[in-house]
Amino acid sequence: MYHILSCDQFLRQDLTELFALTDEIRANTSRFGKALQGKIVATIFYEPSTRTRLSFEAAILRLGGSIISTENAKEMSSAIKGESLLDTIRVIDGYCDAIVLRHYDNRAAANAAEVSSVPIINAGSGSGEHPTQSLLDAYTIYKYKKNLDGLSVAVVGDLLFGRTVHSLVKLLALFRDITIYGLSREVLELPYEYVTYLRQKGVSYIPCRSFAEIPYDVDVIYQTRTQTERFENTDLQVEEFVIDEAVMKNFSPQTILMHPLPRRNEISPEVDQDKRAVYFQQSHYGMYVRMSLLYNILVGK
Ligand code: CP
Repeated sequence: MYHILSCDQFLRQDLTELFALTDEIRANTSRFGKALQGKIVATIFYEPSTRTRLSFEAAILRLGGSIISTENAKEMSSAIKGESLLDTIRVIDGYCDAIVLRHYDNRAAANAAEVSSVPIINAGSGSGEHPTQSLLDAYTIYKYKKNLDGLSVAVVGDLLFGRTVHSLVKLLALFRDITIYGLSREVLELPYEYVTYLRQKGVSYIPCRSFAEIPYDVDVIYQTRTQTERFENTDLQVEEFVIDEAVMKNFSPQTILMHPLPRRNEISPEVDQDKRAVYFQQSHYGMYVRMSLLYNILVGK
């Protein structure tokens, strides 16, 4: 593994190895405490973040590495003076061993990788992809379901702008006998390119307009926030599909409820007590999955 740009790049075997390394790091975290000694990782975020930036930074520190950072690169880096992303990357790559990049442009990570002399890790690119999020999502599913073959997964909410959904469905397509239910308003449907991708990979994709269309025994419900920050210059107003206790009564005790977070009101706080709600565990797993990725990229197998 060198750059992490899109979930297109992964093979099933990559996930098997990543999950095994993540298990090992979780079980023996201190043994990896000097793995990145002498390495510097830059975290450069042009969009806000809590989980991705802080879990990457915690991962770097837990591996014994050092961080250089700008958390609000859009306003606090020389981007505000008109410097291009590519010039910024050409400069920062001389200071560090890898760059974790979040940007509002869907092509930013791929473009940065074209000019960077160090690995680029895509930490969210516009409404395109968020591959490290979906790797931690897949790991979470693996921990709860033991196997990703044969799963049914309902992705809910903003399937148009939701980059975590775009990356997750690509990863799910690596597995056998997958059914994906896409529950959204008509204006926020999964883009045609992803539907086509899934069909080409033999995934059954079923668009839905209500929770009633999702089977009782669906394995995973993956709720998402409507990405209203992407609605600039439109008059789009979209009501959420809210998951509350009443909605959860329609699903099996074995169904798990995930969310990449942050949430607003699309999962009612009362659901947090439900044993099927695993979203905080999911975000905790994120640090370990990111430790594995950094180890893989900067130390090797
Ligand atoms: N899930 C996720 O990407 O969260 P942040 O925006 O807080 O990083």
